[in-house]
Amino acid sequence: GGTREPIDAVRVLANRSSGKQGYAIAAEAAARGAQVTLVSTVDLSVPAGVTVARVDTAAEMQAALEHLAPASDVVVMAAAVADFRPKAPATHKLKKHDGVPEIVLEPTPDILAGLGAGKRPGQVLVGFAAETDDLAANATSKLVNKRVDMIVANDVGAPATGFGYDTNAVTIFLADGDPVAVPLSDKRAIAAAVLDQIVARRARLGNN
Ligand code: CTP
Repeated sequence: GGTREPIDAVRVLANRSSGKQGYAIAAEAAARGAQVTLVSTVDLSVPAGVTVARVDTAAEMQAALEHLAPASDVVVMAAAVADFRPKAPATHKLKKHDGVPEIVLEPTPDILAGLGAGKRPGQVLVGFAAETDDLAANATSKLVNKRVDMIVANDVGAPATGFGYDTNAVTIFLADGDPVAVPLSDKRAIAAAVLDQIVARRARLGNN
């Protein structure tokens, strides 16, 4: 899901990600026999056999991932991590009578790029990209810049895809192959297509 970055003691900067695609990937991986930890900001029903680590902010998500990723064969980053967070969140509730606040933002860490930089041989890293324009060019540059094995790109402007829907349509951009288009399907079927590509990539890297 989306991270939630505090503005003050009661307000957050959030986004429209529902977490459904990440939960579907966790469910599909567990159903295939993987040992799965789901690092999540949302409270959907936990798939059978999946362990959940609950986080709110990009910083908490990064800490959880830095703890879990070194021992993981596969890391899938389906989360909508905020790119910016309030630089100095107020510890109290901002009051209306104090006037309109000026909220200064600062960048969050790029969790996936950090995992890409520290990737160990044989490990498979998967990123997502939600785009409204220039899908292929943006996804391909994320593939290279974040040093990941594949980017699952979806056009959030298209009908019935992306945030909040139970369906999605994606193109999986691979570091070592042609893009794979997955037509409009429920998010569990998208998860299965992504897992198929992960299994194939692991086999090409000499794992099974
Ligand atoms: N991501 C991340 N940490 C961030 C931002 C993004 O780990 N601070 C991950 C997402 O989980 C996703 C991938 O990077 O797997 C791409 O996220 P996206 O928001 O599409 O890319 P950005 O690099 O943030 O670029 P932009 O928002 O400008 O498109």
